Amino acid sequence: MGTLMLYFVVVVHIWTVLFNTCNAARLGPASAKFSAILVFGDSTVDTGNNDYIDTVVRANFLPYGQDYPDGPTGRFSNGKLVPDMLASLLKIKEAVPAFLDPKLSDQEIITGVCFASAGSGFDNQTNAATKIIPVLKQIDLFKKYIARLEGIVGEEKAKQIISGSLVIISAGTNDVAIIKEVDSEYQHFLLDRTQTFVKELYDLGCRTMIISGLPPVGCLPIQMAIARRNSSELRCLDDRNSYAQSLNRKLVKMLQQIQQMLSGSKIVYLDMYKTLIEMIDQPQKYGKQQASDTSANIWIPLLTELNQVS
Ligand SMILES: *[C@@H]1O[C@H](CO)[C@@H](O)[C@H](O)[C@H]1NC(C)=O
Ligand SMILES: *[C@@H]1O[C@H](CO)[C@@H](O)[C@H](O)[C@H]1NC(C)=O
Repeated sequence: MGTLMLYFVVVVHIWTVLFNTCNAARLGPASAKFSAILVFGDSTVDTGNNDYIDTVVRANFLPYGQDYPDGPTGRFSNGKLVPDMLASLLKIKEAVPAFLDPKLSDQEIITGVCFASAGSGFDNQTNAATKIIPVLKQIDLFKKYIARLEGIVGEEKAKQIISGSLVIISAGTNDVAIIKEVDSEYQHFLLDRTQTFVKELYDLGCRTMIISGLPPVGCLPIQMAIARRNSSELRCLDDRNSYAQSLNRKLVKMLQQIQQMLSGSKIVYLDMYKTLIEMIDQPQKYGKQQASDTSANIWIPLLTELNQVS
């Protein structure tokens, strides 16, 4: 379990570094265009759902949450996660609550929640033994959410809120991290699952979605540790990284096709790989002092594309 935890922490850390590197200071005030934020995926975006299910994959103890006002929140992070930061940046709210929290207020429902579950993947089998909620099963939670939202604001208004929401999807890393063999058949399986997932969200009324590609999975410390043959050897696994890259290229193409197919949809790809591999190859470029003027800026173009930066 220790290594699994380490792995989750690392993934969250890279998201957070990404966000901080592409600092919010350079963003102008964003207009409150999105009515709500809806989040699906794994530990990179789980704001606490796993605390309410029967799993060992939890972050409800220190040092998780050490910088969060109320301590551990179930987030695999010292503080906020990227969806929280985005919600705040977009002036929706300060943090995105876990949908499974039984104390959710109506106001929280109206402005959006998180369905993500740490450890999950697009493959229902990924980490299934830990009883986490696979990404495709998060749709069931979303349907319950819609029912509750309709109960609060009525059917018509609920439709508006969902079509006007920003959807964030971050998953796939767990799938690729745990497979033994890297083959293209599995890539097609994952892409097919992703497509099914996006279409289901569209059918349920979602229109604007940000989908994260895979990070350099072969550079995760856990991957490097498993593969090394002696204690002095520690390097990224090239086969795992090229697998992630080729999957990302296929994902980009597929998302373009899906966007064309689903009228009125806006589907944006988030390139985690490029920025992270640069950070790994040239850490000095991403030192603290230079973080503010790095060129590794993915959030601004992304939000600009969604007309969210004035
Ligand atoms: C995965 O789970 C979803 C949601 O329960 C289900 O609809 C789908 O058929 C499952 N897919 C596979 C390949 O088992
Ligand atoms: C560790 O493994 C690497 C790669 O196989 C090899 O080049 C290196 O000499 C090894 N180091 C030691 C101390 O055995």
